[in-house]
Amino acid sequence: MNSIPNIAMNNGVEIPQLGFGVFQIKPEETAEAVAEALRIGYRHIDTAQMYQNEKEVGQAIAQSGIDPAEIFVTSKLNNNRQTFDDALAAFDETMTALGLEQLDLFLIHWPLPTVRDYVEAWRALERVYSEGRTRSIGLSNFQPNHVRKLLAETEVRPAVNQIELHPYLTQDELRAFDADHGIVTEAWSPIAQGLVLNDPTIGQLAQTHGRTPAQIVLRWHIQLGNVVFPKSANPQRMKENFEIFGFELSDTDMGMISALNRNERTGPDPDVFDYVPS
Ligand SMILES: NC(=O)c1ccc[n+]([C@@H]2O[C@H](COP(=O)([O-])OP(=O)(O)OC[C@H]3O[C@@H](n4cnc5c(N)ncnc54)[C@H](OP(=O)(O)O)[C@@H]3O)[C@@H](O)[C@H]2O)c1
Repeated sequence: MNSIPNIAMNNGVEIPQLGFGVFQIKPEETAEAVAEALRIGYRHIDTAQMYQNEKEVGQAIAQSGIDPAEIFVTSKLNNNRQTFDDALAAFDETMTALGLEQLDLFLIHWPLPTVRDYVEAWRALERVYSEGRTRSIGLSNFQPNHVRKLLAETEVRPAVNQIELHPYLTQDELRAFDADHGIVTEAWSPIAQGLVLNDPTIGQLAQTHGRTPAQIVLRWHIQLGNVVFPKSANPQRMKENFEIFGFELSDTDMGMISALNRNERTGPDPDVFDYVPS
């Protein structure tokens, strides 16, 4: 089995650099998908309250026969729960749904800078962290101005910032900002939901290395130091995405992929995104 490297976060807790994402996996298909991912060897699952499949993630973990302490689980606070009391209640609901004693990482899903107060929500995350109910807390989709405000007004430094990041959106400045502040960057939509896989440069590198386009892109993330959790509902592709540790991209290869940047998002812009489910 592949050995997945861990990255130490700023509180010393280690996160496996490769995980499995369950966004857009239907609840009724999630338990089987996560069970398959665990059979392949994934030990890091990325879910969210918004995905409505935490319960099924928990079922797959419980039925896997694997010690839950060996599986790194992340979930995220939904956009409609960003007050102190609501965030505490939402965290309780996540733990009940997952059926876990302790979570590994809990994130604020979106900053919602125009409609909500992420500082107040963060204080709730600090509370559950101080109680030991989650081993670490972090952010998702935060821009530098949001992080700066949080650092100025709160106590606990975020462990990660989970942002959209792939060869068409390399996020060099935000990655550097995170690194300067001791925050690990996690890359969501690491293959841009498939968009980058038909790129001729990626295709050329895939041919050179005898790998698939997805493996080339995921390997690029690993060598940059990003944490990634590609989603696939297909066992063959889940396995393909897991087999990215037996080869190395050269500096030239890395540069060719990074040069594909065109600041193109597949998802919303965090500075203006204000979706709050009813
Ligand atoms: N924090 C946030 O706001 C946020 C937002 C989006 C995503 N995320 C997280 O990031 C994870 C991954 O992002 P994502 O699901 O948006 O996109 P992604 O992982 O970049 O791409 C998933 C898509 O690519 C296909 N795919 C996967 N592996 C493939 C392969 N080897 N070859 C060809 N196609 C392949 C999948 O189809 P099949 O299923 O058919 O294989 C699916 O359509 C999510 O599951 C979630 O955990 C977080």
